[in-house]
Amino acid sequence: MEIKVIAGDITEIEADAIVLSFFEGMERLEGDLADIDRMLNGNISPLVRRGEIKGKLNEITIVHSLGWLPAERVVIVGLGKQQELTTGKVRDAVAETCRTLQKKGVRSIATIPQGAGMGGITLESSAQMLTEGALLGVYSFRKYITKKEEEPGEMKQLTIVGADKDSLSALMAGCQKGKVLAEATNLARDMTNEPANYMTPSHMAEMATKLAQTYGLELTILEREQMQELGMGALLGVAQGSQQPPKFIVLRYWGRGNREIDIVFVGKGITFDSGGISLKPSEKMEEMKRDMAGGAAVMAAISAIAQLKPQINVMAITPTTENLPSGSAMKPGDLLKAMSGKTIEVISTDAEGRLILADALSYARKHNPKFIIDLATLTGSCRLTFGDVYSGGFTNNQEFLNKVIAAGAEAGELVWQLPLHELYREQNKSDVADIKNVGGKYAGAITAAQFLAEFVGNTPWVHLDIAGTDLSEKDRGHWVKGATGVAVRTLVNLVLSLAKQ
Ligand code: BES
Ligand code: ZN
Ligand code: ZN
Repeated sequence: MEIKVIAGDITEIEADAIVLSFFEGMERLEGDLADIDRMLNGNISPLVRRGEIKGKLNEITIVHSLGWLPAERVVIVGLGKQQELTTGKVRDAVAETCRTLQKKGVRSIATIPQGAGMGGITLESSAQMLTEGALLGVYSFRKYITKKEEEPGEMKQLTIVGADKDSLSALMAGCQKGKVLAEATNLARDMTNEPANYMTPSHMAEMATKLAQTYGLELTILEREQMQELGMGALLGVAQGSQQPPKFIVLRYWGRGNREIDIVFVGKGITFDSGGISLKPSEKMEEMKRDMAGGAAVMAAISAIAQLKPQINVMAITPTTENLPSGSAMKPGDLLKAMSGKTIEVISTDAEGRLILADALSYARKHNPKFIIDLATLTGSCRLTFGDVYSGGFTNNQEFLNKVIAAGAEAGELVWQLPLHELYREQNKSDVADIKNVGGKYAGAITAAQFLAEFVGNTPWVHLDIAGTDLSEKDRGHWVKGATGVAVRTLVNLVLSLAKQ
């Protein structure tokens, strides 16, 4: 979809649809809508009087202009109560609107900077929300569907119409930022939606190579031998059951004069999680192609950062392997030696995420970063707790987690904190090794995070468990059914805010 910014009068724009908004509780049409009502011989105002248009959040009303306007349709979208408007509501309402209109065959829409000037929403952030909402809302993953005739076709153009020339630079800046963020999110969605026979560890490494070339990132890919040299016994333990070679992908963005790493992203990259010898039930096992969503998100986020060019140095690590059963696979009861030197008793081979992350976190720490944040589809427990609404957030540094939560809120991505505690730590104690990889039946998301905490030392660290939020079961706001690309925009916002300090 092409996104254009122009100055002009929305009532004069030629498009398949022009989109205007209405707030709940408003009694009369105002501004552009009042003008359009007059141009349509007063055909809209009765809809308000009779309560067909209420202005409820995401209410969509389509009025055909039947030749009275250059645009074919006038679309009125409800934004809820004016005092309660947020940027997130604009993003979601635009996404819902674009999706609805695309299904009806609308190819081009024009709109004004919705919400700008209300509740602290600037022209720039309004344009950013319109852009994100449109690009995220109409995303689909249909590349493998060969029969295309019945497809409604894609929305081609969104025009953001500013009132005057003075507004253009702010609108363009917002549009540019929104585009980078939405495209990065959609990249992570694409990678996660790909089947596991295509998105193998080697393919993830190829993707990283392409991203490095396109965006000027520095790239290191460690092969199995190098992982052996570094003593990454936990990651290699998981990889030993698979025919696909594991890859340890490291991308670096250098945005300031020195070579000090400010922040490391670590993303879980299990391209398929069968559970290994502790095999998962077959029902819904196909969903486990998603188990690299964290890895995809960190690769997409650092690519977005390279385009936005903040003055900060970032490293993104994706340890990636399959988790499969075979004659060479690790077994329950096996002992692994992690890169940190800690020995790990494998209780379940299905608790593989924390094993590969343990070594990735040790690798991260070697570079003395100021902050580490990891993203992982880590536990079914987190999904049972939060569904697809909140990601679980854990930390050894409250101030840092507060920053992550704020960055997430700005992105429309919710994070809720869960605790770490010495008593949970005890659940992970093993009789035969330093630690075991399952802390019992209860508090699964917490004991998993507590396991990771053993490998970060004092470095300020946040762990986001995205096992519920990485996948949506339905279209909802800027989310569409399937991979959500969650946390990409949280990471980018976080880095932009750290770079400002
Ligand atoms: N990848 C799964 C977690 C998961 C479950 C992600 C559902 C998305 C949706 C993870 O590797 C796993 O299998 N975790 C186990 C841990 C258990 C064996 C301690 C789990 O949560 O059941
Ligand atoms: Zn697992
Ligand atoms: Zn897993």
